[in-house]
Amino acid sequence: MSEIETLIAPELPASPADGSARSPSLPDASAAPALSPRVHAASVHGRSIVVRSAAAIAHEAVTGFRQPAGLVRFVKSLIKFPVEYRAARAHQAIPVASFLEVFPETASLTLTAPPSSLGRHGWNVKLHEEMLLGAAVAAIQARQIFEIGTFDGGTTRRLAESAPDDATVYTMDLPEDAFDASQSPTAFNGSRVGEKYRASAAASKVRQIRHDAATFDFGPYRGRMDFVFVDAAHDHPHGLCDSKNALTLVRPGGVVVWHDFEPYWSGLVHAVCEATTGLPLRRLGGTSMAAVRMPPVGLP
Ligand SMILES: C[S@@+](CC[C@H](N)C(=O)[O-])C[C@H]1O[C@@H](n2cnc3c(N)ncnc32)[C@H](O)[C@@H]1O
Repeated sequence: MSEIETLIAPELPASPADGSARSPSLPDASAAPALSPRVHAASVHGRSIVVRSAAAIAHEAVTGFRQPAGLVRFVKSLIKFPVEYRAARAHQAIPVASFLEVFPETASLTLTAPPSSLGRHGWNVKLHEEMLLGAAVAAIQARQIFEIGTFDGGTTRRLAESAPDDATVYTMDLPEDAFDASQSPTAFNGSRVGEKYRASAAASKVRQIRHDAATFDFGPYRGRMDFVFVDAAHDHPHGLCDSKNALTLVRPGGVVVWHDFEPYWSGLVHAVCEATTGLPLRRLGGTSMAAVRMPPVGLP
């Protein structure tokens, strides 16, 4: 989950040529006048993918293959390609909506980046994503918030600072002895979980839970949350478990947001799509986030 791994995520392949979009509101690639969907996809994306792939192979041949590690990396990425390709198709089938379309209440808000947000870690959401999360919480006046995946507490702090004074932010991360520090690019370890929100004035709004989300009893929190943010383990089994739990935590009319909804995290993409079948899942344009605004009570 390092920043480097995120940066080498491949370019997305073409939209599904079979038109298998989840929603009629998706931009329809097949609507282009004189071209069949297949020809359209090939002419717009196909050649550039071939050229880019050839360039990448040539580059690896000149540089990477000189060391065994380079060859191993290359073979691994070749093996992973079909998996990411399938995830890219699932990902592209989800309609894109602008942040304002999903959160029309944000129209009158100003996005801010306090100095405390400028120190960032590779595992943190991007700065603009953090700002948008805060804007969403402020816009809908979320008072009951649940976050799965605290890490250093960067997003927790933003959620807490953006919520009304009487709000509560529950945030969960693994117990200290179960925290996986091995992937962290800095000396971060389990004892530092939540350090950013703990240093802020909004700390009094936060309730830290140290537990494995896969085995936690969410019972007392179910159906009460105005806003749920999911950014924990990114593999399929955990992503599915977290997503299903998130959807039971949120109240009717509330919001669930997922981070890292992008093809590189193929298991997570499939998990979120699976868990939200029949719900209005949207990719938030210009971010790696996806969101569902739950229908209010009484609506399908
Ligand atoms: C990407 S980080 C969260 C970053 C945070 N949202 C931010 O931007 O400031 C993911 C966190 O999820 C935690 N996590 C992973 N698996 C988990 C699990 N099964 N239960 C609870 N937390 C988990 C990790 O320990 C890690 O701290």
